[in-house]
Amino acid sequence: MTRQLIADLMKSETGLDSVVIQGWVRTRRDSKTFFFLEINDGSCLKSMQAVVNEDAAGYADSKGIATGASVTVKGRLVASQGKGQKWEIQADSVELVGSADETFPLQKKRHSNEYLREIAHLRPRTNFYGAVFRIRSKLAFAIHRFFNDRQFFYVHTPIVTASDCEGAGELFRVSTLDPKNPPLGEGGEIDSSKDFFGRSTYLTVSGQLEGETYASALGNIYTFGPTFRAENSNTSRHASEFWMIEPEMAFCDLAADMDLAEEFVKSVIKEVMESCADDLELFFNFIDKELRQRLEFVLSRPFQRVTYTEAVEILQACGKKFENKVEWGVNLQSEHERYLTEEHFKSPVTVYDYPKELKPFYMRANDDGKTVAAMDVLVPGIGEIVGGSQREERLELLLENMKKHGISEKDYWWYVDLRRYGSMPHAGFGLGFERLLMFITGVGNIRDVIPYPRVPGHAEF
Ligand code: 4AD
Ligand code: MG
Repeated sequence: MTRQLIADLMKSETGLDSVVIQGWVRTRRDSKTFFFLEINDGSCLKSMQAVVNEDAAGYADSKGIATGASVTVKGRLVASQGKGQKWEIQADSVELVGSADETFPLQKKRHSNEYLREIAHLRPRTNFYGAVFRIRSKLAFAIHRFFNDRQFFYVHTPIVTASDCEGAGELFRVSTLDPKNPPLGEGGEIDSSKDFFGRSTYLTVSGQLEGETYASALGNIYTFGPTFRAENSNTSRHASEFWMIEPEMAFCDLAADMDLAEEFVKSVIKEVMESCADDLELFFNFIDKELRQRLEFVLSRPFQRVTYTEAVEILQACGKKFENKVEWGVNLQSEHERYLTEEHFKSPVTVYDYPKELKPFYMRANDDGKTVAAMDVLVPGIGEIVGGSQREERLELLLENMKKHGISEKDYWWYVDLRRYGSMPHAGFGLGFERLLMFITGVGNIRDVIPYPRVPGHAEF
């Protein structure tokens, strides 16, 4: 008999005569002639209580069954006398599968998230992380469903690449050269033509550029994959490896791009609130008392929209002292973004039309000569969650921009080709998967929503 999932048994309408569960013991409580086990099998937040009487098979050898051990329990699903649970299992047999001794670190006491990060291989066995990672899985699925339902094609863009989409130089180098003795060119520089790919290569910071090539063929596409940034940002919202969703749409302008971003964020939040209702309760009750209200509020109202110029005016007029001064032409810092979304608008807000000097080479120039058709979606508690733009589809203007940014036409010949052969207006955005997950769960640190976080100075596991 194969194991049944506790998630399914918990939903049973009736008692059942013969069930089998397998999972890990959360707690054991002993009485004279019987003991209780709380067993969690990862399928849901709830653990199943098993009552093991002395007449159950395996009772005699059950000494080693302790917190952390894996077990098989067979028996009857019966209405529970205890409070907080509808069903429990009256065991006919209990079997220790793998023992765990008292060094198992997750004994029944509260641990800090900081400590649990050090045992990231065990932390999914806690209620909190179990819930985070079940929601993470459902959210990924909701994202694929959203795009699939709208006839977007899922494109796998490369992880190893020679291009730097964002032009910020935050690249992790990929090389098989001997670091102690690399081949050198005539000028003493490392000769990357001798490297594995015959050139310098990096981990991708974004799938956008390759995504644009597929949008120029399949129409509407999206990517969903890992991206890497070697930026030395030690914040609760930055990871060096994170997952990004990047839709790209042919024959599309910035307005439609902003519409899609809003519809997308709302739609996947709604789906997760439905499909992960039990797990989300944990966050509503214990992590952030205002979370449910905030999510419902976000779903019920349009996002606010302001131009960058209007945003700067709001920030200058608000009278609040910021650490970083606000002036037209400077990057909005996290404190500014959060003021806009948390205090001024008290709602998600899409800021668009940014100064061209602040943005990468591929963004489309607006007619004012000063701004580009860029947009960021800001949400309370996090700040930027989406960054996107309409792309420069006009060959001359793109080439001019590349020159200004010091980007060689020779290296990006394939990207420029798109503007030579059947160019069309197109637009897209990137959504940070972990940031969305933080927003949905109220979890305050990105290190707690990714299984094995990579941040400056840390790549354990
Ligand atoms: O704004 P970004 O840098 O935009 C791009 O990479 C574009 N190529 C996207 C596109 O238009 N296709 O990044 C997009 C989003 C950010 O809004 C943020 O949510 C997330 O990716 N992000 C990070 N998330 C976690 N850790 C980091 N270090 C991140 N950097 C960006
Ligand atoms: Mg950005």
